[in-house]
Amino acid sequence: MASLHFRPMRAIDLDAVSAIETDIYTHPWTRGNFSDSLAAGHSCWVVEDDGELAAYGVLMVGVGETHLLNISVARQARRRGLGTRLLAFFETRSREFGARAMLLEVRRSNGPARALYERAGFHELAIRRGYYPATEGREDAILMGKDL
Ligand SMILES: CC(C)(COP(=O)(O)OP(=O)(O)OC[C@H]1O[C@@H](n2cnc3c(N)ncnc32)[C@H](O)[C@@H]1OP(=O)(O)O)[C@@H](O)C(=O)NCCC(=O)NCCS
Repeated sequence: MASLHFRPMRAIDLDAVSAIETDIYTHPWTRGNFSDSLAAGHSCWVVEDDGELAAYGVLMVGVGETHLLNISVARQARRRGLGTRLLAFFETRSREFGARAMLLEVRRSNGPARALYERAGFHELAIRRGYYPATEGREDAILMGKDL
């Protein structure tokens, strides 16, 4: 973690990003979801650890608020504070965009991510019933937010 480098995601990153995404999610984003995010002008970032892509995220910027659409850390890079740092990085970007709040959705069953967000000061705002596809049926999302 000595040489963490945050930089904007580019089209050339999409193979590496998609490889991590399919490794870590049961219902991963497609490569097209990431290229659409780049084309839409979302704030898309990657983090390199010693030159290797270790984490990434996508922030959608709205009027007065931002919405974190994706935040992911490669398996081998976890529990070393990278998720916390990337989340804080997106909070800083959000403030720079003039947002007063940052929002995100998380699966009810995603204990690690919920713990990360709660530790970072996000709180539960609403439940979106059956928001996500799941291995069996659908799963609720918890909408979380933080005032900036
Ligand atoms: C959620 C995720 C981004 C966390 O990344 P990370 O780099 O491991 O997070 P950090 O090291 O900053 O952890 C911060 C805190 O979150 C909590 N946490 C993280 N992983 C945890 C786990 N597996 N179990 C319990 N708590 C966990 C802990 O409180 C942790 O602090 P600690 O290590 O001092 O105990 C990572 O596990 C991930 O990419 N998961 C798969 C993708 C995903 O679910 N993304 C979120 C979608 S909403």
